[in-house]
Amino acid sequence: MTGETRVLLVVAGGIAAYKALELIRRLREQSIRVRCILTRSGAEFVTPLSLSALTEDKVYGELFSLTDEAEMGHIQLSRDADLMVVAPATADLIAKMAQGHADDLASTTLLATDKEILIAPAMNVRMWDHPATQANIATLQERGVALVGPNEGDMACGEFGYGRMAEPHEIVAAVLSALGREPRSTAGGGPLAGRSALITSGPTHEAIDPVRYIANRSSGKQGHAIARALSGLGAKTTLVTGPTQLQDPSGMDVIHIESAQQMLAACENALPADIAVCAAAVADWRVASQSNRKIKKTGSDGIDSGVPKLELTPNPDILASLSQRGNDRPGLVVGFAAETEDVIRQATQKRARKACDWIVANDVSPESGTFGGADNTVHVIDAQGVDSWARMDKSDVAQRLAERIADHFNGGLTAPAPAPL
Ligand code: CTP
Repeated sequence: MTGETRVLLVVAGGIAAYKALELIRRLREQSIRVRCILTRSGAEFVTPLSLSALTEDKVYGELFSLTDEAEMGHIQLSRDADLMVVAPATADLIAKMAQGHADDLASTTLLATDKEILIAPAMNVRMWDHPATQANIATLQERGVALVGPNEGDMACGEFGYGRMAEPHEIVAAVLSALGREPRSTAGGGPLAGRSALITSGPTHEAIDPVRYIANRSSGKQGHAIARALSGLGAKTTLVTGPTQLQDPSGMDVIHIESAQQMLAACENALPADIAVCAAAVADWRVASQSNRKIKKTGSDGIDSGVPKLELTPNPDILASLSQRGNDRPGLVVGFAAETEDVIRQATQKRARKACDWIVANDVSPESGTFGGADNTVHVIDAQGVDSWARMDKSDVAQRLAERIADHFNGGLTAPAPAPL
């Protein structure tokens, strides 16, 4: 392994270990040599043979293998790499790293290395949320260990939340960034390779005064998931997001804004783009004149100032504005329609009013559980008619929408991506 960029990949034991195979393939597409250490529990999920076939190298497993030590000592193993990557990084291995344990080849090499380490955690959401894991992660980050993911989504154990390992393309992006390298476009870079996508997500916050604002209940889950799905299909992605509780997806530009006016400016800045998906719940109004000082209940004379009258003024409509641009109008503009009644009719009218190409109508009535929830029931409306999808997880809606977008550009030739784990 000389003359090339080299990654030493530790594959620990978790259901996400199977994604290590795709990760190796994608790293090799970037001309990165990969050598693997497979932990004992990792070997329950993937075989040394498949790792070895993809890396075209030996796979290391046992600390006290005399043959391995004779060929390549465990210290040399990490010295020989430019970067160490742990994917999946289990709660157990993360704890070992934080504590400095060295009782197998993986933990020993991670302790002995003088190279940067990038970890892609994968575990059950409760294990991830546990204060012990969070403390271990904080310790590792303080020591300079880089983190990619985990993502939010359905887990193999049937629960939902953070803990799903970052997708291989996200890990590759993090590897390239750790190595200070630009991604190399690949022949197999996905059906949207060479396309650019702009996504709005989350709520906007419209300041009333320095401490108060107008907002809404959008979580940003759907918009973030769409950004991830489009990026996963190879699009160069820009996510413009209002304030959310979500982690920034990796492998794309993420621009944080607060108000609708800032969101519009960020979107205009991100043009030109081939695809625009407006999934943000933009506040329709802001206060006409924002106060620079906190609005007080009592005046300086101590007299009750009464209830303030807030005059509202309309915010710019970002979807309509992108749809109605001239030369730099994105080739495909997709909006969302959040409706509480008469969903399809209202959304069809909204599509015409805003002049977007497709509108994804979703029922956001309180009983639907869409706002803040994990699932979404949508109808995609375009010039041809209405395509109603069954209720599904927001990340599955995102994946299906991204594939529909890829089909639009490729004339229906996009092969469906494997279902996310
Ligand atoms: N949208 C936008 N800018 C706004 C308002 C909405 O870009 N100022 C976009 C949303 O991101 C979404 C679509 O417009 O893609 C429709 O949003 P929605 O809230 O359903 O509709 P409104 O335009 O706000 O209309 P109404 O509240 O009357 O249903």
